[in-house]
Amino acid sequence: MKDLTIALAKGRLANKSLKLFEQIGIHMEEMNDPDTRKLIFVNEELGLRMFLAKASDVPTYVDYGAADIGIVGKDTLLEEGRKLYEVLDLGFGKCNMCVCGPAEAEEYLKHHELIRVASKYPNIAKDYFYNTKHQTVEIIKLHGSVELAPIVGLSEVIVDIVETGTTLKENGLKVLEVVCPLSARVVVNPVSMRMEYDRIMKLLRGLRSVITDV
Ligand code: PRP
Repeated sequence: MKDLTIALAKGRLANKSLKLFEQIGIHMEEMNDPDTRKLIFVNEELGLRMFLAKASDVPTYVDYGAADIGIVGKDTLLEEGRKLYEVLDLGFGKCNMCVCGPAEAEEYLKHHELIRVASKYPNIAKDYFYNTKHQTVEIIKLHGSVELAPIVGLSEVIVDIVETGTTLKENGLKVLEVVCPLSARVVVNPVSMRMEYDRIMKLLRGLRSVITDV
């Protein structure tokens, strides 16, 4: 029997996911070792393999079938836009994708002005401004610390994740519009779902039974 392969987005989501797996009796000991440089972990007894990948690469691994299952944030799924089955909301990693900026920028949004929007999520930003708001904007792709953009005059607003709101507050910015809620999701490769239906459903039922807050 082929191992089921699970790709986890590195970082906080992976740590929380591993705790969920432990609650349903799936232990991947070496994965919790902070000193290990190993990339892939196998539990032969359970026929499972797990690996950690950069969040934005998780949908790629699942799309190509290199992983049967992925655990990744809804932000990454929306941005990558791949055809995967999104089968479960794990209920953690909750936050919102928002349009943010200084209070003055509210007027630009109200009057649909041609503004510049900086974001690590250009596809989400485009989809929101073009398809939902029907507002023509210039999208500027950044790779991090996006809050800087309106402060130094690169853009009028940003589209970014807001969790506690601390980063915005400390930089004199605010939420102007909420694009959508986000959280950790389980995705499955459509072919794997057909070929390994029973094993995947068993795993999903297990995870569902220990999810506390959706
Ligand atoms: C994320 C996001 C915000 C911040 C929001 O950034 O892009 O900057 O967290 O969190 P808060 O509302 O709790 O302050 P991340 O920490 O991933 O760093 P980056 O911007 O450098 O990518």
